[in-house]
Amino acid sequence: MCMDICNRLSPIKFAEADDFLTFISIYEDKARERAYKKLLWQNRHLIEGKVCVEAGCGMGIFSEYMASLKAKKVYAIEVNPHMYKAAKKRLSGNPVIEVVNSDITKFDPGEKINVCVHELYGQLLLDEELLMLEKLKFKPVHMLPDGGKLQGGITMLNRLHDRIVTPEILAQLDSVLVSGLFDEGKLPLKFDILEWQWGKKTTAKAVCDIRSLSGDLLYMGVRVMHKGREICRAGKCPNWSFIWTPRTGNCFSISFSRGLRAPDPMFGWQQ
Ligand SMILES: C[S@@+](CC[C@H](N)C(=O)[O-])C[C@H]1O[C@@H](n2cnc3c(N)ncnc32)[C@H](O)[C@@H]1O
Repeated sequence: MCMDICNRLSPIKFAEADDFLTFISIYEDKARERAYKKLLWQNRHLIEGKVCVEAGCGMGIFSEYMASLKAKKVYAIEVNPHMYKAAKKRLSGNPVIEVVNSDITKFDPGEKINVCVHELYGQLLLDEELLMLEKLKFKPVHMLPDGGKLQGGITMLNRLHDRIVTPEILAQLDSVLVSGLFDEGKLPLKFDILEWQWGKKTTAKAVCDIRSLSGDLLYMGVRVMHKGREICRAGKCPNWSFIWTPRTGNCFSISFSRGLRAPDPMFGWQQ
């Protein structure tokens, strides 16, 4: 589903409605939902009888699931006002869940939190709100999931047999990162670009030397990890797609600057 706002709105109203539409569209991705529920189920012993948080709860499906796994209390925290209202309405009948309209970095439960679940992974790992988790006012005993990677691969454009994106078209996109340009197919994510690990300082900048790899097309994708194992990844879960760009060098850099709504990725090729 692709939803665009068609009329002129104030910048704040636009941002709130645009984020709302973006975030409700993730619920089309059933593979993501299954992967997260499996992770919570496997960790149900950490949830039963304990106080838990869902950081950025969206519609609150994982808050609801933690309540069904017998959490003593679940704080479902959501910053977007539309999303908050939708979650509050959905979860109003659940006595265990408290839906709070707050920025997660400002939320202080005033009690011990055993589990914090979140899904703040951007298409380029750090271009959504993952780094917010380093600024929490509370320290959960367990963060679920606790890691993630941005990984890459190189392929040949002519192997993808795309009728529209010919070499001439692709050449116009030098240093432009594009999602959804091709289908991921069975392309593997081969090398690490960036890593996030709960409790470790994240370096939001990488320089990758790919001179030993042959191919004219670079792709990147997110892998959501917990305790070193994959939970879900770009290509397998439609919520995350590969990001593509033509290869015009042997070395590229990626970093993130502070954006208006979320971190802005910066990308460039070096020789
Ligand atoms: C990708 S959605 C995930 C929603 C839900 N956890 C799920 O997995 O179904 C991320 C949610 O986090 C919310 N969010 C983003 N930044 C936040 C912040 N600083 N504090 C609280 N919520 C935030 C967004 O509005 C959005 O609803």
